[in-house]
Amino acid sequence: MSHRVRIENTHHEFTVEDDEPVLAAALRHGLILPYSCRGGTCGTCMGKVVEGEIAYPDGSRPPALSEAEEAVGQALFCQARAVSDLAIEVREVRSAEDIQPRKLPCRVERVDELAHDVRRLWLRTPGNERLQFLPGQYLDFLLRGGRRRSFSLANPPHDDELLELHVRHVPDGRFTGYVFDELKERALLRFEGPFGSFFLREDSTRPILMIGGGTGFAPLKGMIEHAFHVGLNRPIHLYWGARARRDLYLDELPRRWAAEHEGFRYTPVLSEPEPDDEWEGHIGLVHNIVLQDHPNLAGFEVYMSGPPGMIAAAQRDFEKHGLDPANLYYDSFDYAVDPEEPES
Ligand code: FES
Repeated sequence: MSHRVRIENTHHEFTVEDDEPVLAAALRHGLILPYSCRGGTCGTCMGKVVEGEIAYPDGSRPPALSEAEEAVGQALFCQARAVSDLAIEVREVRSAEDIQPRKLPCRVERVDELAHDVRRLWLRTPGNERLQFLPGQYLDFLLRGGRRRSFSLANPPHDDELLELHVRHVPDGRFTGYVFDELKERALLRFEGPFGSFFLREDSTRPILMIGGGTGFAPLKGMIEHAFHVGLNRPIHLYWGARARRDLYLDELPRRWAAEHEGFRYTPVLSEPEPDDEWEGHIGLVHNIVLQDHPNLAGFEVYMSGPPGMIAAAQRDFEKHGLDPANLYYDSFDYAVDPEEPES
């Protein structure tokens, strides 16, 4: 049996299933409530039950909720289950400023070789800590000597047990050299995040164009998987530009999305295909192919992530083709660059 939940302060409503935490149901509906541990131990998800009744899984108050707080109607929504329809008061996360960046340790759970020069890192935060973020944001590894190295989060926020990063090898880059040559599973690292204003805007009805260059695919992947998860009802067309076929390191994934989701289209673009690639798709610069397909960009919302050259050229040309700059969001690696290592 399901129950209705109304958030009094924002007038948003959603349904929660039997034995489903209220927080999980809100996230499933695309409403982002604050959280951290999702285990009842940190108190970040606390809010107030104004009407209706809740219960906790084993009938006992979670550790981060005091008796006094419970007595005045406070609840931990990562644990609370609805026993009736509810009216609640809770802060909603509406923008990047609503999430305070945190410093956390993490363990490298797995390293996947995605391409000759791309590794995927899967990171696990300590048992009682989860990183809350908006799809598309990034984190900084905290390195010796105060150095930092930034990577976009490639997993969507709802799938946060492990954090996913795509790391491209930068010739002579100290940190990426370490990732490729030395980093082992179970290694311990520290990071700070989330950061960045590059995240999916859900309060619009415009069709979406996404343009990724190389590992710029990573934040777009998180956004797209989030959009599918919350049932975002807007067409999304992803263009992924790379040099040769081997650089489209997860090509089968967007191909599968396109087969499974009616509103999703995928166009890979190669700038210098190898003879062995037998490439029959688009050849050229990715933003030029976008303009061939969409000569009039008025009415679109555009998300771009990639090297600064790609972003600058696209920005200039897209505006000439009618794109409202207010509807253009981009991540051109213009954050916290390690001065000793060129950006990917
Ligand atoms: Fe930590 Fe609910 S998220 S107590």
